[in-house]
Amino acid sequence: MGNISKLPLVQLQGVSKVFGKNSSELIALNNINLTINDTEFIALCGPSGSGKSTLLNIIAGIDLSTSGMVYLLGNLINTISDEKVSKLRAENIGFIFQFFNLLPVLSVFDNVYYPLMLNGMSKRQAKDQVMDIIENVGLIKHYKRVPNELSGGQQQRVAIARALVKQPKIVIADEPTGNLDTKTGQEIIDLLLAMNQKNKTSFIISTHSESLKNQALRVVEIQDGKINNETV
Ligand SMILES: Nc1ncnc2c1ncn2[C@@H]1O[C@H](COP(=O)(O)OP(=O)(O)OP(=O)(O)O)[C@@H](O)[C@H]1O
Ligand SMILES: [Mg+2]
Repeated sequence: MGNISKLPLVQLQGVSKVFGKNSSELIALNNINLTINDTEFIALCGPSGSGKSTLLNIIAGIDLSTSGMVYLLGNLINTISDEKVSKLRAENIGFIFQFFNLLPVLSVFDNVYYPLMLNGMSKRQAKDQVMDIIENVGLIKHYKRVPNELSGGQQQRVAIARALVKQPKIVIADEPTGNLDTKTGQEIIDLLLAMNQKNKTSFIISTHSESLKNQALRVVEIQDGKINNETV
């Protein structure tokens, strides 16, 4: 039993990703080694085109590596069925995107409830859990509104609540403050740090924000598809 709980959440060994073929071949990731454990808060930094989104998509099992090993909670995801990858992802990973990706016709409540609905939970069963996380992100007054009645920062709070509602072990965020002004971006960073502490969820966050980089517990720098410097 002890062994299972000590498995890293994510482990990448010699992971490479090549897009295209022959003359149009592009090496997006080049021999990446990375381990993510419980309760981490990682800033994934690097210039545009360095491979951040590609790396996050591979960790999430949204995209497959060209070579190397990708383990999600001890499961080698290159070798298990799509169905099992989907299940692992649904149960263990939350996602936050730059452009929020909320469902525009659904209320705040229903956007946050949505992942639980997909798991077959009734609204009645889910209600307390959904309202709890909406309260945690500071939107209790607005739970009936639809996304376009909210500010950008508020919409990102909804996306954070949606990512956390299933209490995933890890949250993957691709430039979550990229579409927000500095002050609102800082509020979102503070909220992510608070959620990391409160829920013991690990976060890996791609970012161009110096502020997020400075506040992260661990910084992974990627350049030309290679991790070239790690600060703890
Ligand atoms: N589906 C794809 N097909 C071909 N090339 C791709 C594809 N996705 C990404 N790339 C290329 O892979 C490299 C890494 O892209 P990626 O999107 O991971 O960079 P990034 O670090 O997230 O950049 P940004 O900071 O601009 O979001 C880039 O050269 C990009 O053009
Ligand atoms: Mg990107």
